[in-house]
Amino acid sequence: MENNIQILGIAGSLRKESYNRKLLKIAQGLLPENTTFEIFDLIDIPLFNEDVEAEGLPAAVAAFRNAIQKADSLFIASPEYNSSITGVLKNALDWASRSYNKQPNPLTLKPVAILGAGGRGGTDRSQYHLRSVLNHLNMYVVNKPEVLISMPGRQVFDELGNLTDDFALKLIRQLLQNLVNYTIQLRK
Ligand SMILES: Cc1cc2nc3c(=O)[nH]c(=O)nc-3n(C[C@H](O)[C@H](O)[C@H](O)COP(=O)(O)O)c2cc1C
Repeated sequence: MENNIQILGIAGSLRKESYNRKLLKIAQGLLPENTTFEIFDLIDIPLFNEDVEAEGLPAAVAAFRNAIQKADSLFIASPEYNSSITGVLKNALDWASRSYNKQPNPLTLKPVAILGAGGRGGTDRSQYHLRSVLNHLNMYVVNKPEVLISMPGRQVFDELGNLTDDFALKLIRQLLQNLVNYTIQLRK
């Protein structure tokens, strides 16, 4: 459907029980109307190597680039590692950032929303770095709301993986709505 917005969710952690993976699942339950949300798992993406790239894109990388191309916008939930973005996420963005066989970088001019769970600062320092990378890639990053889910001293997920913080849920719903609004505006 032409009015339908397709969002691609990406987690910056490969951990099975990752809280950031859980955020993607939670987002799938908070979607605005006429929106679909698929999750792409980065687990099979190899480390970037220009020699490998020259021989042909690994299947997982080609699938990742296709999924980005097909999506109207991206939604990235990532932890913070050592005050910055995770290697897993940066590596995947590096693969996607390249023009390949005359196919342009699929990230260019794509709207993207970011959020994260973990640590005292709720991924604030990594989100700052991630915004900078996404700006460099000429993406349209949704500025507000900032969704920083601080974890220590406060259990915000229950044992089933549900987020128990109503304010955080409200922010995620608003972030999705802003991403959809932004995507529609950019189509005009
Ligand atoms: C290598 C590594 C570095 C980390 N560095 C930070 C950090 O700088 N700041 C922070 O708040 N948490 C840091 N953490 C803790 C993560 O935020 C926490 O493990 C989080 O739950 C990981 O996200 P996930 O649940 O989605 O896997 C680090 C964890 C790892 C494994």
